Amino acid sequence: MKEIKNYIKNNKNKFIKELIDLLKIPSISADSNYKKDVNKMSKAIKSAMDSCGVKKTKIFQTKGHPIVYGEHIIDPTKPTVLVYGHYDVQPPDPIELWNSAPFEPVIKKTKIHPEGAIFARGSCDDKGQLFMHIKAFEILNNLDIIKCNIKFLIEGEEEVGSENLEPFVRKNKKLLKCDTILISDSGIIDNKTPSIETGLRGLSYLEVEVTGANRDLHSGLYGGAVPNPINILCDMISSLKNKKGEINIPEFYKDVLKIKQQERKELNKAPFNLNKYKKEIGIKDILGEEGFTTFERTGVRPTLDVNGIWGGYTGEGSKTVIPSKAYAKISMRLVPNQSSEKITKLFSNHFKKIAPKSVKVKVTPHHGGEPYVCENDTPAYLAAEKAMQKTFQKKPLPVRGGGSIPIVALFEKELKVKSILMGFGLDSDAIHSPNEHFGLFNFLIGIETICLFYNYYKDVK
Ligand code: BES
Ligand code: MN
Ligand code: MN
Repeated sequence: MKEIKNYIKNNKNKFIKELIDLLKIPSISADSNYKKDVNKMSKAIKSAMDSCGVKKTKIFQTKGHPIVYGEHIIDPTKPTVLVYGHYDVQPPDPIELWNSAPFEPVIKKTKIHPEGAIFARGSCDDKGQLFMHIKAFEILNNLDIIKCNIKFLIEGEEEVGSENLEPFVRKNKKLLKCDTILISDSGIIDNKTPSIETGLRGLSYLEVEVTGANRDLHSGLYGGAVPNPINILCDMISSLKNKKGEINIPEFYKDVLKIKQQERKELNKAPFNLNKYKKEIGIKDILGEEGFTTFERTGVRPTLDVNGIWGGYTGEGSKTVIPSKAYAKISMRLVPNQSSEKITKLFSNHFKKIAPKSVKVKVTPHHGGEPYVCENDTPAYLAAEKAMQKTFQKKPLPVRGGGSIPIVALFEKELKVKSILMGFGLDSDAIHSPNEHFGLFNFLIGIETICLFYNYYKDVK
């Protein structure tokens, strides 16, 4: 496969320049002010596929943001790989913490990325990673060594829950028919320790509103005699977990599968340096559910976290007030066999039940997603394993990912096809945070590994 390596070497600068152009488009799916840019991004993805020679490409409009589809069928008797990715990005806030503008990409060297990394929102999650797939296609097509049928499904709403992709998948099963789904939207342990994610967590997400009096009150005139919804919300939230870090909602753990001792052992095989972990994110100590390791806490155990909390006076100086309302956004990461809908209901009922009589509580569910697991001996997993083994010179470890990609469980349910999570990002790449970046090493080795994947996968059918 020397020709692939050479192609990458000779076209490296072109690849990086093209990615930088895509990173300049602020395709923020959550913010309606950026609808035009999201639209522009979908066209840029389509034309990137067109110029690499993908035979059939099309943009499907939805009630929300467009879906970009591409198809390159070489021989219907050969296996078909569906590549999924997302071209939308998270909002860049807090913008003042970026060292360079989020949509003006710059390349800088870091300790972890001595070859350089591209700093921009979406560089790792997921424009940089989905672009590896388009460039891998370019290479295989130009060298005339495509070994599988390839389909592309690139959406613009992953960061807001893939709400419009779901009905699209249900309605277009024939179009999306494939033997496996290949996704690069996750990471590896580090650049010397490749890994493949064999699971994703699900998600339940709710917003709660606690109302006390019918207006904000003077805290001197009324203080001490009336409910303060912020105090009450805090009490309610803190009652959701016990001292051991376990979630206090009745039946919350009912469907969680017990992990076998053997699986636990496997899971903890990956290298983990606690001091490095703490230092990298600047914490003095870790905190989590008693009796579980960090890998277990993020991989196979469910969680409950407050994502935002607000209410009352937060402006300059002080204002003596008992607010009428308090709010919070609360999410729960779910593990295999838990159901997002069921957990959302459990939470909702419990939260209303624990409220004191003095306040009103409103709970509004947001979009969630189901958890996902896959075995590490399927043909697609073995092809990914072989490809990584070749490029990294080391056999990748199977690990359970802590993040969520809501459409993956739906792919399995509707298309009856498993996904392979062959991502190339690092936890330290700061996805969703200020100064998100993606290593050039990771970008280039990703392209090479994807090329090899098809080569190893071709023989399965
Ligand atoms: N690519 C991430 C998920 C991810 C990151 C999976 C790292 C595995 C490793 C994805 O774009 C994401 O951020 N998903 C959201 C869910 C969504 C409903 C907003 C998440 O996990 O919070
Ligand atoms: Mn992503
Ligand atoms: Mn994301």
